[in-house]
Amino acid sequence: LATTEVDLSPIQEGQSITVKWQGKPVFVRHRTDREIELAKETDVKSLRDPQADDARVQQEPWLIVVGICTHLGCIPLGQKPGEPRGDYSGWFCPCHGSHYDTAGRIRKGPAPLNLAVPPYKFVDDTTILIG
Ligand code: FES
Repeated sequence: LATTEVDLSPIQEGQSITVKWQGKPVFVRHRTDREIELAKETDVKSLRDPQADDARVQQEPWLIVVGICTHLGCIPLGQKPGEPRGDYSGWFCPCHGSHYDTAGRIRKGPAPLNLAVPPYKFVDDTTILIG
């Protein structure tokens, strides 16, 4: 399928789901207030791949990123309850230890770039169309 429609309404605050888009995992996270705060208070200039949170998010509290580590393509952990989210409360790639923050930005480890934001749009308040 070229596009993937996602109903956001069942996703609770603090919960993440993984959907498939063009064969790739896409992470959809309903961020908590604290996670949003952490993403926004980070000094953009200090980042390896400098991007402000609002350049990566269309509508709070939703973060949508491609779930493929930008180092060598493993799928980072942090989607399921109890999985490690790394030192920055986002995702942790166990292959070589990359840590991503609550905006999916690379903060530590070998990955060169932030988790990619796929093309998507809000169809209504609780539905997105990826692709
Ligand atoms: Fe993720 Fe190497 S593939 S750290």
